[in-house]
Amino acid sequence: MPNQRKKIIAANWKMHKTFHEGIALLVELNMLISSKPTKHTIVVAPPYIHLQSAVHAVADTGIKVAAQNCHQAPQGAYTGEVSAEMLQSVGAEYVILGHSERRQYFGETDELVAQKIKAATDFGLKVIFCCGESLAEREAGTHFELVKHQITTALKSFQPRVIKDVVVAYEPVWAIGTGLTASPEQAQEMHAFIRETLQGLFGAEIANNTPILYGGSMKPANANGLLSQPDVDGGLIGGASLIAQDFFDIIHSIPA
Ligand code: 13P
Repeated sequence: MPNQRKKIIAANWKMHKTFHEGIALLVELNMLISSKPTKHTIVVAPPYIHLQSAVHAVADTGIKVAAQNCHQAPQGAYTGEVSAEMLQSVGAEYVILGHSERRQYFGETDELVAQKIKAATDFGLKVIFCCGESLAEREAGTHFELVKHQITTALKSFQPRVIKDVVVAYEPVWAIGTGLTASPEQAQEMHAFIRETLQGLFGAEIANNTPILYGGSMKPANANGLLSQPDVDGGLIGGASLIAQDFFDIIHSIPA
């Protein structure tokens, strides 16, 4: 029997789309989705500056809006930063935290990501927590250890009632924006390992109910193979989410 976990397809626009381009993409996506509705959870993460308008643009469609980051402090003299409460106040429901690009280009550590998860969940945001190894780590065979360390360091201090609001996204860095993708078997192997790690930290109920998304060059051509794996509960999509038809086709690649 298929598991009862929520399936989530999330779009991470990263630093793409002007305001008008972004709203046009949402309007197109709305039209596609209303022509063929889905029972799954659809999330879009535009840049901060488009968030409030994105929330209006998807009102009544069931699409949820996410931010791509937030600051760890509730407020303060942090020029240029955005707090979790601000996100919540404009209607964002999710926030992506710990993305490898934040780790790589902005020096974010698992300890910092843990603080951000606390800030986000304190204001009722759901978190898409990203983890995943580099190519060097996979080649060295340390990928399981690394992912376990990322998850343990970022999540271990939270109570199960907080972890219920956390979605894990496994994004192997070598597959992000490279056109290389994990094979369905590689994804399943790591997702099962992540579930086992969650079970060790929080018990079977949390482990069985936490959605684990795959991210890294997911596109219409490879989505069905990945999304058919028993522990792959959805996708976090970058490049292909910038084209409404591709993102829509990925949504409908989830096996019935
Ligand atoms: P791509 O789909 O462009 O590889 O990006 C994946 C990603 O980083 C989503 O967060």
